[in-house]
Amino acid sequence: METMGNLRRTRYCGEVSLADAGSELVVAGSVAKSRDKGGIIFCDLRDTTGILQLVFDDGTPAEVFSKAQSLRSEYVVIARGVLRERAAKTDKIATGDVELYVSELRVLSEAETPPFEIRDEVQVKDELRLKYRYLDLRRPVMHQPLVLRSKICQIVRNYFCDNHFCEIETPMLIKSTPEGARDYLVPSRVQPGHFYALPQSPQLYKQILMLSGFDRYFQIARCFRDEDLRADRQPEFTQIDEEMSFVTEDDIMTLNEGLLKKLWKEMLGVELTTPFQRMPWDEAMARFGSDKPDTRFGLEIQDVSGVLAGSQFAPFKGALSAGGSVRLINCKGLADKLTRKNIDKLVEVAKTYGAKGLAYTRLTADGETSSFEKFLTEEEKSALRAAAGAETGDVLLVCSDAKWQRCCTILGQVRLEVGRKYGLIDENKFNFLWVTNFPLFEYSEEEGRWMAMHHPFTMPTPESIPLLESDPGKCYAIAYDIVLNGVELGGGSIRVNDPDLQDKMFHALGFTEERARESFGFLMDAYRYGAPPHGGMAYGLDRLVMLMLKKDSIRDVIAFPKVQNAGEVMSGCPEQVDEKQLRELSIACVAPEKE
Ligand code: AMO
Repeated sequence: METMGNLRRTRYCGEVSLADAGSELVVAGSVAKSRDKGGIIFCDLRDTTGILQLVFDDGTPAEVFSKAQSLRSEYVVIARGVLRERAAKTDKIATGDVELYVSELRVLSEAETPPFEIRDEVQVKDELRLKYRYLDLRRPVMHQPLVLRSKICQIVRNYFCDNHFCEIETPMLIKSTPEGARDYLVPSRVQPGHFYALPQSPQLYKQILMLSGFDRYFQIARCFRDEDLRADRQPEFTQIDEEMSFVTEDDIMTLNEGLLKKLWKEMLGVELTTPFQRMPWDEAMARFGSDKPDTRFGLEIQDVSGVLAGSQFAPFKGALSAGGSVRLINCKGLADKLTRKNIDKLVEVAKTYGAKGLAYTRLTADGETSSFEKFLTEEEKSALRAAAGAETGDVLLVCSDAKWQRCCTILGQVRLEVGRKYGLIDENKFNFLWVTNFPLFEYSEEEGRWMAMHHPFTMPTPESIPLLESDPGKCYAIAYDIVLNGVELGGGSIRVNDPDLQDKMFHALGFTEERARESFGFLMDAYRYGAPPHGGMAYGLDRLVMLMLKKDSIRDVIAFPKVQNAGEVMSGCPEQVDEKQLRELSIACVAPEKE
């Protein structure tokens, strides 16, 4: 192994081009691949920017040539040479029209054979990739997203700073507050038996910053939620968090459209059209069965309750008489693909979302076959077809439920499955949508009470204020989510800045005065000393990067992600700790209860 001696890098591998041909440069990196062709050796050198081909031939000094013969994959080297135009050009790498004729080479570190090859198209188990994450992150396909993520953060910072925002860090060790997901807790050594929580978001602090007169705040903030992992959910994730004073929801949406427009333009060269479409929550649920509709394809839900009002078919009749509805999606032209067997698979999807079943009717050139053939009258069947605009080649999938929202959710999930499976989604589209006017509360069967749909500080719409206690189910919030291609990218709201209204909100949420004070007293007090109207929102940065780079999981855009059991494989956490550490924290572990 050698030191760098007096060699110092002058250029990055991926940044040289034909314009540099003829100049002497020094590059440094890892050997991606080395091919000894007898009298000539080619070596692909990789650094964080890309790959450059090094050449050693009969013009190379003998001791450099023999050193080049010893190069193996992942050796770390620094090399000086002259850049020349390549005879056999390639477009496989960005620097494919040049190569470096090396005159000086130093091997800075040798490498054992890695457990998997460091190249993009490699078939390796996730476990192994995560255990050797530093090797995985050398693969360009894993490496580049993190470089781009850093650029995205830079654009975000510049945008906010240019728009009068102040970047302020909020604490990581905070008070555990009810409402929201499960907290990660951190024991205090100094105050035995007392715990901090890790922040689920900087929500309360950013509101306090508005009361502190900062006017506009942003932060790229780490957040922690002890919830189950999904492709777009990690226990530890990052938000682009913002809050503004003296604004309406329109101001917030417009400013954020500007941010997204800038990001898409600068990162992807895509010109987004603003303002984005806006859709009230009720409409999103009724048309798409989701509060984050994927609007890249149609297949919208239709309400056919009116048409079937007199139906004697038990599932329809039951749902309608219980105040529910019968709804359908018309899978246009999919009769060939949606065979009985494939419809059965969709029924299974529907069942996982609480459907008892899914009725269907297939219209083929040979006639109509349907699951309710014997149960609907000819008139009803024909009225149903007419209402759905059904033609030969179509399949109607029909759901009935006593709860309209569940009926829509079920069909919304079936819609997504059909869209994905049968190629209805244009993957090149970026469909942004603001979903607005969320319900203020949702009823939790588990808790037996109304819960805040967003959080307890969300401003109700003016019409909802008189209904807070008498009819919580009819209250709406000045809250909005930004949705991209069916993924909730971010969300926010205008906050309550009137202490009396906040009291009413706590009351509607079932807090006693004592409990509200215990949990949020500091905030309630703060609002008594003059509070500007304010609101804000937060994006999931990981989701934003995932969608911009068209990745399937946020794991692909996080350097050291957690896995299903919330562990981090490379370092091996969480782990048991010493008795001594536990004693210092006045903590004793008990065996978990058997399920
Ligand atoms: P919310 O809880 O909707 O709002 O979170 C904002 C955004 O954060 C992202 N997100 C996640 N990303 C990855 N893994 C997770 N576990 C995870 N949970 C949430 C989502 C989501 O849209 N304080 C409010 C915002 C506000 O009102 O200003 C908040 O946290 O993209």
